[in-house]
Amino acid sequence: MLRAVGLVKSYRAPSGAPIRVLAGVDLSVKPGELVVVTGPSGSGKSTLLNVLGLLEDGDGGDVWFEDARVSALGRGAKSRARGGYVGFLFQSFLLLPSLTALENVLLAARYVGRAGPATRRRALDLMAEVGVADRQDHFPPQLSGGEQQRVAFCRAVLNDPPLLLADEPTGSLDDANGAVILAAIRGRARAGAAVVVVSHRPEAAVGAGMVYRLRDGALESP
Ligand SMILES: Nc1ncnc2c1ncn2[C@@H]1O[C@H](COP(=O)(O)OP(=O)(O)OP(=O)(O)O)[C@@H](O)[C@H]1O
Ligand SMILES: [Mg+2]
Repeated sequence: MLRAVGLVKSYRAPSGAPIRVLAGVDLSVKPGELVVVTGPSGSGKSTLLNVLGLLEDGDGGDVWFEDARVSALGRGAKSRARGGYVGFLFQSFLLLPSLTALENVLLAARYVGRAGPATRRRALDLMAEVGVADRQDHFPPQLSGGEQQRVAFCRAVLNDPPLLLADEPTGSLDDANGAVILAAIRGRARAGAAVVVVSHRPEAAVGAGMVYRLRDGALESP
C-alpha cells in the first residue's frame, strides 16, 4: 500500500546551515500492517510522516501509494491523492478553532464531498468510541488537550483511509485514554488499513508488524 524509497530531506537552520533530517529512508507498509517508528526528539519522525503523507516534499526519493508514484505528482494531484488515501493525525492536532468538535471531525468528509446524515452518525459513533461524543459542540479551546487529540483521531479516520499516519497519537493522553486510541488504531489496521504510528510509548508497539527506530536519518530495526 505504502512504499518509500531513498527519502532524503534537509532543512536550513536560520543561520543557513543545512540540517540533514532524512538520509535515505526506505519503508514499506502493507494493507493491514501496523508499523511503529520511535526515535529521540528531533530525529525526524514528524518530518518522515509529513513526507509519507505528501504534506511536505522530500529533496529526493519516492513515495508510492499502491502502484502510483505519488511523490512525482503536481500539487493538485498530490492533494487529491492525500484526500483519497491518507488519514493524518497531527502531533499538534491542528483542529480549526472556529469549528466545533463535531464540525472538525466532519471536515474530513467535506473534503471528499461526503457529508450526509450517515457520515454524521459515523462521526458521532467514532466520537463515542473514544469518549468525546459529549463534547461535540465544544470549540477546540473549550476542550482539554487529550480531548482535542481524540477529536483529531476521529477526523483522521472518518473517511476510512487506506493509509493512516499517526504522529504521537497518545502524546496528550492518560494511560486509559491512550489505550483506547491505540486499540482504535490497531482496529484500523485489522480492518485493512496500512498504519504508521510514531510513538514513544512501549504499548504502541503491541501488535505492531514492525518497530523501527529513526536514527541518523535512517530507519533501523531494533
Ligand atoms: N521547517 C524547519 N526548518 C528548519 N528545521 C526544521 C524544520 N522543521 C523541523 N526542523 C528540524 O528538523 C529536525 C527534525 O524535526 P522533527 O519535527 O521531524 O522531529 P521529531 O522526531 O518529530 O521530534 P519530536 O519527537 O520532538 O516531535 C529537528 O531538529 C528540527 O529542529
Ligand atoms: Mg515530532
